[in-house]
Amino acid sequence: MIKHPHKILISKNKISKRTAALGQKITRDYQGKDLVVVCVLKGAFMFCADLIRHIGLPLQCEFFGISSYGAETQSSGIIKTTLDVSSPLHGKDILIVEDIVDTGLTIDYLIKTFSMRHPTSLKVCTLLLKPECLKTKVTIDYCGFEIGKNFVVGYGMDHAEKYRNASDLLLLFPKKR
Ligand code: IMP
Ligand code: MG
Repeated sequence: MIKHPHKILISKNKISKRTAALGQKITRDYQGKDLVVVCVLKGAFMFCADLIRHIGLPLQCEFFGISSYGAETQSSGIIKTTLDVSSPLHGKDILIVEDIVDTGLTIDYLIKTFSMRHPTSLKVCTLLLKPECLKTKVTIDYCGFEIGKNFVVGYGMDHAEKYRNASDLLLLFPKKR
């Protein structure tokens, strides 16, 4: 049964400040590089749209669709590509932009997928990381916030495709899963 989310975990103001700081850091790190931001759909669309407005570089923005959860709050472990990027990425400096790294299986899959395309460099930026849930060792280059095990929605993130339009990051269930 879906309970209505109510509690704000991270406010839109906090998200906005942290996103600006990440954008400024990325701007410094990617001077003179051929930056391609790969927005992982659907969950990262809102974060990525805000983040790239804080990156002061002539970047290319691509979209990569992936689905791994279905209507459950636990990863199904089955990762499905739903949309590929629109141009070749060899020789580019790829920055994968994710909403959240939970078990790490999805980002691991994405890193492997994009490494095979021979980029000059490949890094990961995620708004959220759940360190206690990691099941595989992954390197996260830019992270907005580390959070606990709770399932979160809003600011692009969903539960059964709902709540993506909330401006704040919300806790779906008050209790830990
Ligand atoms: P992982 O493969 O377990 O790391 O899960 C990564 C993906 O699952 C993320 O890109 C999200 O789309 C989704 N996900 C994981 N945890 C949450 C959550 O708390 N709320 C919403 N989506 C989540
Ligand atoms: Mg995602």
